[in-house]
Amino acid sequence: MWEKYNAKWFMCDEAIKYIVNLFKKEKYTTVLEYGTNVGYLASKLSESFKVTSIERDERFFEEAKKNCPNTTLYQGKIEAIAPKLNEFDVVILDAEKSLYIKHFELALNHNPKMIVADNVVSHKKKLNTFLEHIEPYNPKIITVGDGLAIIHLEHSQNHSLNK
Ligand SMILES: C[S@@+](CC[C@H](N)C(=O)[O-])C[C@H]1O[C@@H](n2cnc3c(N)ncnc32)[C@H](O)[C@@H]1O
Repeated sequence: MWEKYNAKWFMCDEAIKYIVNLFKKEKYTTVLEYGTNVGYLASKLSESFKVTSIERDERFFEEAKKNCPNTTLYQGKIEAIAPKLNEFDVVILDAEKSLYIKHFELALNHNPKMIVADNVVSHKKKLNTFLEHIEPYNPKIITVGDGLAIIHLEHSQNHSLNK
């Protein structure tokens, strides 16, 4: 079912496996994904969690609707939709890399226990200022798939300072 799509957009399977195990271990139940594409990650996560996801591209959004019937999907820009959404245990950043800092700041408003950012190894150069920006939050860089930054806000002093 996924062969017809461009898999280079999808989070890698080993990274998905890693975050599913991590979220289960932490007993998280609600996940917000920034950047649905056609719903590959959302459909996998929806097998175990209550997932909400945002995609700006209308064609991708229509595909995602077919591919993930159990995910709550929104079509539009993250910057416009995210401020209208409530709290989530986890927010996953996987949309436009140049907007990662903006998306990280928006994600904090969902009062998440964790923020996960994809592609921090594969797009290291592009995400350099983002990686500097999150440094005070003590991110863990995990080299599975394209590289994940895991920001565990429950353990981060900076988070409580920002509240
Ligand atoms: C890497 S793909 C997401 C892949 C998906 N998370 C997965 O693993 O299956 C990034 C998607 O984010 C969308 N996107 C990028 N910037 C966005 C924005 N500002 N608001 C909403 N969607 C955005 C793009 O259209 C693209 O489909």
